[in-house]
Formats: sequence, C-alpha cells, structure tokens
Amino acid sequence: MDKLVVEGGKRLTGEIAISGAKNACLPILAATLLTDEECIIHNVPRLKDVSTMVCILESLGRKVEYEKNTIKISAGKVKACTAAYELVSTMRASIAVLGPLIAKYGEAKVSFPGGCVIGARPIDLHLKGLRALGVDIHIEEGYILASAKKMKGAKIYLGGHFGSSVLATANTLMAAVMAEGETIIEDAACEPELIDLANFLLKMGAQISGMGTPTLKIKGVKKLRGIEYTVIVDRIETGTYMLAAIATGGSLFLKGAKLEHNLALNDKLLESGGIVKERSNGIEVCRSGKKIKPIDITTLTYPGFPTDLQAQMMSLVTICEGISVITEKIYTERFIHVSELNRMGANIVLEGSTAIVKGVKKLSGAPVMASDLRASAALVIAGLIASGKTEISRVYHLDRGYEKIEEKLSAVGASIYRVKE
Ligand code: EPU
Repeated sequence: MDKLVVEGGKRLTGEIAISGAKNACLPILAATLLTDEECIIHNVPRLKDVSTMVCILESLGRKVEYEKNTIKISAGKVKACTAAYELVSTMRASIAVLGPLIAKYGEAKVSFPGGCVIGARPIDLHLKGLRALGVDIHIEEGYILASAKKMKGAKIYLGGHFGSSVLATANTLMAAVMAEGETIIEDAACEPELIDLANFLLKMGAQISGMGTPTLKIKGVKKLRGIEYTVIVDRIETGTYMLAAIATGGSLFLKGAKLEHNLALNDKLLESGGIVKERSNGIEVCRSGKKIKPIDITTLTYPGFPTDLQAQMMSLVTICEGISVITEKIYTERFIHVSELNRMGANIVLEGSTAIVKGVKKLSGAPVMASDLRASAALVIAGLIASGKTEISRVYHLDRGYEKIEEKLSAVGASIYRVKE
C-alpha cells in the first residue's frame, strides 16, 4: 500500500487548478443509463471512485472510454441489470445506479451497500423514494431487488433523521424523470452536485423545476437523449486547499473554484483570520495575520457547513489560539481523524458527536493512518503544518477523491511525495 510522506513547515504559494466534482460526476455517470444514446462527459476527475463507477457501467454491459478528463459512454443497451457486491461494497455511491436502471429497464438488482467507516449510512430514504413511485422492492441475499411494471409520479417527503439526503434525492429524481405524470420531492437535497445532476438530466430532455430548493417538481418523459456535458468544479477539493493555504500561512489562487459553493466555509475562514477574494476565474485565499482564531462549527446539509470539510477544518484549528468546538450533525461518528491528530500533538477531546479542540503551539510529524477520504485530507493538512516528517499510510483513501494531490501540492511549495510499497 502506498504511503505519503510530508515534510511540514512550508508555506503554500501559487496556483492550483481545481478538478471536476467527484460527487457530481458519480450520479451523472449513473444517469447515463437513462439513455441508449452516446454520452460524453468532460471535466471528470481521474479518481479511483470514478473508475469504480466506470467498472459498474461496464459490468452492466455499457462500453466506456475514460481518457484524461473525459468519459465517453457509447450508444447501446445494458446487458444485465445487476450491480454486484464486489463493486458496490467498495463505493457506496454505486447505489446511484438503482434509480436509472429501474426507470429505464423496469428492474434492478443492486448489492446492499452496508455501513462504512464514517458511520451506519442507511438507505431507507432511497427505498422510500422509489417505493412511492410504485417500485416493488425486496432485500434478498444482500441484494436490493427492485422491479416496476409502470412507475407513477407521486408526492414524496424525503427528509430523514439527519435532514435531506443527496444520493436518495438523486436516485428518486433519476427514477421520477421517466415516471408517468408529476412527482414532487419535498425536503430534497440542495447540494450543488444535485443541481449539476438535475442540469444534466434537463439537457437529456427531462422536465425538472425547483433545483437548489427543497421542493423538486418533475414531469415524467418517455425518452431521454444522449448529450455532451461538463461537470462542475469540486467544492470540497476547493475547500481543502483553502484550508491548507490558511493553515500554512501561505497564499493560493484556486483556479476555476467558485466561492458561491463554499459560503459557509468562507464565513468561518473570515472569522478565523483568513482573507478570501473571489476573482473572475477562481478564488484567492491567504491568512490575514500570524494567528488563527478559534471557531465553532456545526456540520449541516447545504448551504450549511459541509461534513466533507469537518476533518480538514479540525486540522486547521488544532494550532489556533483558544478552544474551538466542532459538532458533526450528518455522520455523528465521523471522528476517526481525532486520534491521529492527537498522535501529532493536537489536543482534541470527543464528547459524543462534538469535538473540543484546544489549540496547541505546534503539531509534530508522526506516522499516521488514513481511515477515510476526508480524514486523509485532514492528515495531509496536519502534516503540512507539523514540524518534521509525517508518514500517512493507507493513502488509497485519498486516491478515491483527490486528483493528483501530491503533484498539486508540490507545485505550490509543499514537500510531499509518495512511497510505493
Ligand atoms: N441518510 C439516511 N437514510 C438514507 C440516506 C441517508 O438516514 O437513506 C442519512 C445519512 O446517514 C446521513 C445523512 O442522511 O446522516 C446524509 O447522508 P446522504 O445520503 O446525504 O449522503 P450520501 O448521499 O450517501 C453524499 C456524498 C458524501 C457526503 C454526503 C453528505 C456522494 C457520492 N457522497 O453521500 O461524500 O458526505 O453526501 O453531504 O455524493 C465524500 O465525498 O467523502 C463523501 C462521503
């Protein structure tokens, strides 16, 4: 397994080009199942998760070419409607093929995704949305077996214990675009990635209104066409590099980044002593003074503070002057990075789903273990600000979601390299 080695203490300065959004790209790739025609998707990040989705499309019988940052799905029908355990178990987002398969082919067999390291991650809302549209669903031998002779539009309340769900909204939306009549989804997710999926579906010929609001209205159509589409930039990759710039006392220009997708983070960064400026083709970010001020955050659904930046934000506040309080409301167990940050000298105490971070003067490099994608990014930021050497093992987690991370960081002054094992 590869390792990343970070020699800390370097300021990041220069420009980083932000990649396409992983979490927009994955459901969009699934949505290509809604047509037999060719689809071409640009600005696709080169990531392990995207390769997994490509493998799923191929296993269903579609021909896919993935070159540089473009994916071409050739015209053709699927040969099977089964997404196997071997693939689905490596990536939860695989469940996004369920809605399109049932909408287009009237049947789907998708492995039950199970929990993961950031918590239980149930799929009740996915099933609720599809059942409301008339889909018959059974769980057998670890698989979701779904079938529908005819799907009918419905009024669906899709909010759960933790608010709206991104992929449950995506699945219900992708099924509803081909259901007969009108569907109204209440408490739909408002994340930019969901809006991007809706824009993709609109271009294919779907009829959807209310994107970016909690009420989505969909009028079913009989057929969708193949299209060419460019995915939005990744707001979580953007946020990660914004935090890295401020943590190292550096100054970065994030090319292509959009501030409107990171307003909650921006607000907290300004509070903690960051300077963020929006330019026509990106965002400039640096630290205003020597010290970082403590901040309190609570993760929420969009436009609240994203859970996918909670860990990276925690790395920043480990070295602030004072106490920060970080509460996780989306995945209440998403704190595996805490013990690794403490190994590096941080002072973090967990009280249920709240982390109390007492700022320390400095972190010191240590061998640490990556446990999930965003926790890994947090360890990279910690390594960048620590004195000495940090060795991050199990770096495959990072490769799931950050395109060329060590290349991008090295180009702006970080000392970071990969050791192949
Ligand atoms: N939830 C339910 N029932 C469901 C579905 C979700 O109770 O049927 C709960 C979850 O347990 C969680 C909350 O609802 O507490 C939100 O989960 P959501 O369904 O929105 O998550 P997701 O759609 O499975 C996407 C991203 C995640 C990101 C979350 C939250 C993709 C591929 N994944 O997951 O990204 O954390 O939304 O914003 O879009 C990551 O990129 O590292 C990542 C984990």
